[in-house]
Amino acid sequence: MKKTSFLLQFSTVLSLLLLSFQSYPVTALSSTNETDKLALLAIKGRITQDIHGIMNSWNESLHFCGWMGVTCSRRHKGRVTLLSLEKHGLIGSIPPQIGNLSFLRGINLAQNFLHGQIPQELGRLSRLRFLNLSNNVLQGEILGNLSFFSNLEVLNVSYNMLVGKIPNSLETLGMKRLNTLLLGSNKLTGTIPKWLGRASSLVQLSLTSNRLHGSILGELGKLLNLSILRVSANNLFGVVPLAIYNLSSLIILSLAVNQLHGQIPNDIGLTLPNLQVFFCRTNYFIGWLPVSLSNASQLKKIGFESNNFSGLVPPNLGRLSALEVLALGENQLENIEGDDFNFLASLTNCSKLFALDLGVNRFKGHWPTSIVNLSSKLKYLSIEDNQISGRVPDGIGNLIGLAGLALQQNFLTGEIPNSIGRLEKLNELWSSDNQFSELSQATNNFSSANLIGEGSFGSVYKGIMGEHGMLVAVKVLNLKQKGASKSFVAECEAMRNIHHQNLIKVLTVCSSIDFKGVDFKAIVYEFMQNGNLDEWLHSTEVQVGVRNFNFIKRLNVVIEVAHAIEYLHYHCQPAIVHGDLKPSNILLDHEMVAHVGDFGLTRFLISSKKTSSLGTIRTIGYVAPEYGTGGKASMAGDVFSFGILLLEMITGKRPTDAIFKDGLNLHQFAKLALSERVMDIVDPSLLQELRSTDENIGDARRNKRERRVSIKEILITFARIGVLYSMDSSNDRMEMKDVVVELCIIRDKFLGNRS
Ligand SMILES: *[C@@H]1O[C@H](CO)[C@@H](O)[C@H](O)[C@H]1NC(C)=O
Ligand SMILES: *[C@@H]1O[C@H](CO)[C@@H](O)[C@H](O)[C@H]1NC(C)=O
Ligand SMILES: *[C@@H]1O[C@H](CO)[C@@H](O)[C@H](O)[C@H]1NC(C)=O
Ligand SMILES: *[C@@H]1O[C@H](CO)[C@@H](O)[C@H](O)[C@H]1NC(C)=O
Ligand SMILES: *[C@@H]1O[C@H](CO)[C@@H](O)[C@H](O)[C@H]1NC(C)=O
Ligand SMILES: *[C@@H]1O[C@H](CO)[C@@H](O)[C@H](O)[C@H]1NC(C)=O
Ligand SMILES: *[C@@H]1O[C@H](CO)[C@@H](O)[C@H](O)[C@H]1NC(C)=O
Ligand SMILES: *[C@@H]1O[C@H](CO)[C@@H](O)[C@H](O)[C@H]1NC(C)=O
Ligand SMILES: *[C@@H]1O[C@H](CO)[C@@H](O)[C@H](O)[C@H]1NC(C)=O
Ligand SMILES: *[C@@H]1O[C@H](CO)[C@@H](O)[C@H](O)[C@H]1NC(C)=O
Ligand SMILES: *[C@@H]1O[C@H](CO)[C@@H](O)[C@H](O)[C@H]1NC(C)=O
Ligand SMILES: *[C@@H]1O[C@H](CO)[C@@H](O)[C@H](O)[C@H]1NC(C)=O
Repeated sequence: MKKTSFLLQFSTVLSLLLLSFQSYPVTALSSTNETDKLALLAIKGRITQDIHGIMNSWNESLHFCGWMGVTCSRRHKGRVTLLSLEKHGLIGSIPPQIGNLSFLRGINLAQNFLHGQIPQELGRLSRLRFLNLSNNVLQGEILGNLSFFSNLEVLNVSYNMLVGKIPNSLETLGMKRLNTLLLGSNKLTGTIPKWLGRASSLVQLSLTSNRLHGSILGELGKLLNLSILRVSANNLFGVVPLAIYNLSSLIILSLAVNQLHGQIPNDIGLTLPNLQVFFCRTNYFIGWLPVSLSNASQLKKIGFESNNFSGLVPPNLGRLSALEVLALGENQLENIEGDDFNFLASLTNCSKLFALDLGVNRFKGHWPTSIVNLSSKLKYLSIEDNQISGRVPDGIGNLIGLAGLALQQNFLTGEIPNSIGRLEKLNELWSSDNQFSELSQATNNFSSANLIGEGSFGSVYKGIMGEHGMLVAVKVLNLKQKGASKSFVAECEAMRNIHHQNLIKVLTVCSSIDFKGVDFKAIVYEFMQNGNLDEWLHSTEVQVGVRNFNFIKRLNVVIEVAHAIEYLHYHCQPAIVHGDLKPSNILLDHEMVAHVGDFGLTRFLISSKKTSSLGTIRTIGYVAPEYGTGGKASMAGDVFSFGILLLEMITGKRPTDAIFKDGLNLHQFAKLALSERVMDIVDPSLLQELRSTDENIGDARRNKRERRVSIKEILITFARIGVLYSMDSSNDRMEMKDVVVELCIIRDKFLGNRS
């Protein structure tokens, strides 16, 4: 056998040598590099949209080794070793022919819009070392035969829509070289497989944000090289095996948002000396916080919120000089009354402390004097819902980095000190439910002169608050129903956690009983000088004139709104559905930056007005069809409203415009105009501007010899996605996270053309 194969090899070498001298047809070799070309063409063939024109270079005039994103081997001429097309906004799927690129060492198709299945043919690629398909919309199961011949080191398929179990057949990969296995943010089910404990090369393992159940296996404790272990946001339960806390290489350990029980071992800081991030929030952990935490000297982030920890906070956490986040909220932690919170005094040593959450615990006593000496980097501080009394000292103005300060639900007295006015970055101040002196003065006793708007939620007044005369908008909710206060507090609790530059800032909330004995509920928002988007799009009275509301401003507004909604959908826990997105709910500040308002209220009003139908609260035209049949407010519904908003921005027509009747609606109006007649439906004021800009762009581009992309193309894309988002069936709509990416690509393209 050996001899034969040697002979075979020898003869191959020989024929290769001969080749240099003779012009024999070289069937074997030429067919292989020809195969690579065919495979690449098959990949291109599956891309249905390529807005950046990335694949324009994939043409006959260039050897395929020169195609964008393709790298070939130096030794094996014409064989593709690397396919790298990440972050190009490509829409399409992956063909099985990819499995013919047999010299591939790496595939990186991350951050596109690839859908369909991960082709099983990838398992043929025995030279493949890394496969990054993260952040796409891939569906189906992770096929076990991915591991057939493969020697993968990195498998990253996080942020997709993969379903099914983690296949046991992947063990083959685990037995070889796999060091990074990232399966987070999919829809995987089943349990954590035992074989993972035998994948001894693993350094990074993330199973976060899936639907895994069962317990965390002690087997994982055998992964001695593991430095990142993330299993957060699943349905895992039970006690975390001690062996996990013995993985001395761990740098990041995230167990958050599961149903885990038990105590954190006392010696954790000694057994995990390299730990930098430890998240275990939203579980059922009990017991005291381990004093040894201070021995894990690299710790930067400690997230212990929403558990059942009790007892005292260790007084030596100040030894953690790298500490940035200490989140202990929603537990049963206490202090020794009269000790002036000595653990806080220690934390004044942590010069990088950025967020400190002590809210919703059992801390009591006089305002802790050392708070004013915490790091000037401190951005978020919460002591809400404890039993802290006394006055807030002037020194609070020392914390110049503060953006959010939550003091509500304590026994604080006196006035909020003027020095708060020095806190230029402060966006959110929560101070309700204390015994402060706070609101009717601000709005001149809610006089009609101060009334600036009325809507389904209630009336909005303009007001002036505090010594510094900060302008605010006070929304007084229209609640006839008694006993609504409980859900009000709960809803506002949700809003408290919301920090985003494109959402209206909730400054404070006021809940009490007014002089007539009626429930009085108001929300104080920052005041927006440029009114709302509806006025800008439709009012003839806007002083600055529609001309200034040009295409790029509109595009920015659209993207800002998309960011805000994406934030509500994916970065709030629980996710928040807006439920009533429309131009009049989008406010513009002095720099014309959009801020979405009224988020989180729909749910509250619906639950408080049990008898009313959804229709009376939401706004006709912007409401997804499924709401009409009694559907619950949903993310897909927000995407619909957003799609309509987009079309309104382009056409300048409200969905309730008189021309929309007899079955014609804004969605169909735009759809019919795609793609030949898009210019016919564009808002005339926009068209005027676009024509002139288009010419200018032409000049600039000619100078730079850039590819010419007409504004028309951009408008078509814009209209197309507006139509796509406002599809009748919620299943056909995109998700907000994809919306944001796509819109940013369009903007970059537009700006890229200009510069
Ligand atoms: C083919 O690709 C090259 C390189 O990007 C480009 O210069 C050329 O215009 C392309 N040809 C066609 C027909 O698109
Ligand atoms: C295929 O490989 C052969 C041998 O290395 C080489 O001569 C030929 O140019 C290659 N063809 C392509 C299309 O790369
Ligand atoms: C490439 O892959 C496809 C599908 O996996 C297969 O049908 C085809 O025969 C392969 N070979 C060539 C030369 O394209
Ligand atoms: C995809 O994976 C490769 C290899 O691990 C990595 O270099 C690249 O940064 C990753 N890209 C993204 C967007 O995650
Ligand atoms: C895996 O994908 C995620 C999402 O794109 C990315 O943040 C991460 O850096 C990637 N990691 C590797 C090793 O590819
Ligand atoms: C890969 O696995 C799937 C499901 O287990 C199976 O249907 C398919 O036939 C397998 N493909 C190959 C090439 O073995
Ligand atoms: C663990 O890491 C060390 C040092 O990087 C390395 O020598 C060793 O081979 C790794 N062990 C495994 C099982 O991969
Ligand atoms: C933790 O590791 C130590 C030695 O490093 C070992 O003696 C002990 O048994 C381990 N504990 C568990 C629960 O694995
Ligand atoms: C752990 O920290 C404490 C102080 O908090 C210190 O006294 C002790 O020596 C440290 N232990 C080790 C092993 O570093
Ligand atoms: C939390 O701990 C307290 C005792 O400290 C106990 O009474 C209570 O039942 C626990 N709650 C939960 C949800 O475990
Ligand atoms: C701050 O650190 C210094 C030295 O690292 C230490 O002596 C002092 O006790 C610490 N202060 C507090 C309040 O812990
Ligand atoms: C805060 O720091 C100042 C000096 O920076 C000091 O005089 C004061 O005593 C400190 N207060 C507390 C409570 O530590």
